[in-house]
Amino acid sequence: MIRWMAAGAALIVVLGVLAAYAALSFGLVPANADARPSAFERWAARTSLDATIAREAGSAINPLPLTDENLDAGIRLYASNCMVCHAASDGNSSNIASGLYQHPPRFAKFSAPDDPDSEIYWKIAHGIRLTGMPAFGGSLNDTQIWQLTMFLKNMDKLPPGPDALWKKQPSVASAKSKQPKPGMPSNPDSI
Ligand code: HEC
Repeated sequence: MIRWMAAGAALIVVLGVLAAYAALSFGLVPANADARPSAFERWAARTSLDATIAREAGSAINPLPLTDENLDAGIRLYASNCMVCHAASDGNSSNIASGLYQHPPRFAKFSAPDDPDSEIYWKIAHGIRLTGMPAFGGSLNDTQIWQLTMFLKNMDKLPPGPDALWKKQPSVASAKSKQPKPGMPSNPDSI
C-alpha cells in the first residue's frame, strides 16, 4: 500500500515537472515586460524579498553623521546612478522607468523609503533579483551606499542647502513621456 502511495506521489511530481517544462517551452509563461505582474507573481516576489532581507540585512544603523556634506554627496550619487529609474524631484518617469517591469518607485512623487537603514543599504548593495533594480555593491563603496541611504531617508525633509541642490537636478522625463500613450495608464504606479 505504502509502495503504491509513494509511486503515486513520484508520478505527480514527475507530471508537475513536465507540465512546468511544457508551459515554459511553449511560451505559456509570459516573458514580456509590458504587462502587469500577476497577483501570484507579486506575492511570490515580495515574500521571497522580505524573507531574504529578514535573514541577511541585519540591523546596522547609518554610521555617517547627518551633515549637509553627506546629503549633498548622496544627492550627486543619486543623480548619476538612480534618477533615470527613480525620477528627479519632479517625480516624472523617464522612458526607461516607464518601460521597466517592475516599475521603479518614484520616491519624490509618492514616498521616500521609510524602511530601516540596514534594509535600504541591503537593497542598494545587492539589488533586487528579477526586477530592474541593480546591485551597486560592486561599483560603489560603503560610504557612498550609506550616503545614498541617508539622502533617501531624508529626501522629504532636507535642510535648505541640500534641498536647493536636489531641486536643481534636471528632470529625467522626456517631453514625450509626460504624454500618456493611447490605451496606456498615464501613471505607471497607479496600475
Ligand atoms: C534600471 C533601473 C533602476 C536603477 C538605475 C535603480 N533602481 Fe532602485 N529599483 C528599481 C526597481 C524596478 C525597483 C522596484 C523593485 C521591486 O518592485 O521590488 C527598485 C527598488 C529600489 C528600492 C526599494 C524601494 C522600496 O520601497 O522597497 C530602493 C531603496 C532603491 N531601488 C534604491 C535605488 C538607488 C539608491 C539607486 C541608485 C544607486 C537605484 N535604486 C537605482 C530600479 C532601479
